[in-house]
Amino acid sequence: MSENFATLSIGETTYKLPIVRGTRGDKAIDIRKLFKETGYMTLDSGYMNTGSCSSSITYLDGAKGILDYRGYAIEDLAKNCTFTEVAYLILHGVLPTFDELKSFKQDMRRFALLHEDMIHFFDHFPPNASPMSILSTTVNSLHNYYPEMDEEDAYGGLTVTTARLLAKTRTIAAFSYKKSIGHPLVYPSPKLNYCENFLNMMFDRPNLPYKIKPEVVSALNKLLILHADHEQNCSTSTVRLVGSSGANLYASISAGVSALWGPLHGGANQAVIVMLEDIYADDKDFEKYIAKAKDKNDPYRLTGFGHRVYKTFDPRAKIIKKACDEIFKKLELEDPLLDIAKELEERVSQDEYFIKRNLYPNVDFYSGIIYRAMGIPTDMFPVMFALGRLPGWIAQWTEMKEDRENARIGRPRQIYTGNKRREYIPMKERG
Ligand code: ACO
Repeated sequence: MSENFATLSIGETTYKLPIVRGTRGDKAIDIRKLFKETGYMTLDSGYMNTGSCSSSITYLDGAKGILDYRGYAIEDLAKNCTFTEVAYLILHGVLPTFDELKSFKQDMRRFALLHEDMIHFFDHFPPNASPMSILSTTVNSLHNYYPEMDEEDAYGGLTVTTARLLAKTRTIAAFSYKKSIGHPLVYPSPKLNYCENFLNMMFDRPNLPYKIKPEVVSALNKLLILHADHEQNCSTSTVRLVGSSGANLYASISAGVSALWGPLHGGANQAVIVMLEDIYADDKDFEKYIAKAKDKNDPYRLTGFGHRVYKTFDPRAKIIKKACDEIFKKLELEDPLLDIAKELEERVSQDEYFIKRNLYPNVDFYSGIIYRAMGIPTDMFPVMFALGRLPGWIAQWTEMKEDRENARIGRPRQIYTGNKRREYIPMKERG
């Protein structure tokens, strides 16, 4: 029989704490009333063992390497769906019918344009501005141009804002790239699907039309699907936390983009390429980089290895590695970095340090190599991650808003370790 309570003893007193169970075996000790009843808080830096919410969007089992969106295995979705279909699933909880998908796509076409005034934003960033900073800033500014979302939110349906965000973020991403290389902007086409449109806006030129290859479209769909949600990771928790203060969806997503930017999170796909290039330029001295990563006096890490939750393998990495091999074969491509990546993985898989700590390639290890093959520049990789993660962020934000029972601002506590209360010292007496 499963227990309904955990007991906690502090000194002579015993407390009963309710146990909460999820639909697929997750179990948690509910400590929400602990502070009120005992005066004790829990301490969990980095939220290693803290559930911040209940959610019905994504299930993952880090020990078994399972990842499901709304109950569907990531392997099935990556094999059979387009990104738009999966975005619909994540946002609405069900796979769309033919008509539902058609109307979702129409919405995305309808909202793909940016307000023309926003185009000026791109002129005022310095030439080497990071695309992630442009993305975060511009997404935040969407609220100024489309403030009516507050009204929609009040009615509980964020359909228009969702379509706007999905469609316009894609446009912002492509425009920021075009501006960075000084090329004229390519506007979204009503004839193209989500991924085709993105690729066309990125690579079409008036003097050199871009030929959309189905293999590239298929690989892009796969990559975006694999990034579409990952429960309460750093950026998603940021989106929820910012939203919990009552900040609007655009501001919350913009904060999520900033959280994703870091090299320990979505910036890792970019950092992987830098690492592989370094190894290549260093006469493929793998052992030097592996030794650095193992040296406790050196902060260096092998980027693309390890994950907070996956401790056997990252199911996304498996699919991406296969997709990487497929696209290279189909398009008859070669990239020395792919060989470096494979050899590094092989060496790491036999190294006691990495085996003992369960460090396997994560989603970012091979994704950058595919993006490179598509012609996407390295500093745009985290932007690609953000495009993929968008439906997840929006669904998580909406779920949080709809959870009336737990509607409260996110606010962790702390153990204070500073000075005891002391007397104020006037300036002339400070030595
Ligand atoms: N290279 C070398 N050592 C590593 C690595 C790595 N990539 N990752 C973890 N370790 C070591 C740590 O030094 C630590 O060793 P210790 O027990 O001897 O102190 C142990 O493995 C556990 O590592 P933590 O940092 O405690 O694990 P945590 O869950 O906090 O971090 C993280 C997970 C951030 C992903 C980490 O593995 C890492 O920094 N990886 C490289 C960056 C990366 O690829 N990030 C992308 C993650 S996926 C994503 O966000 C989409």
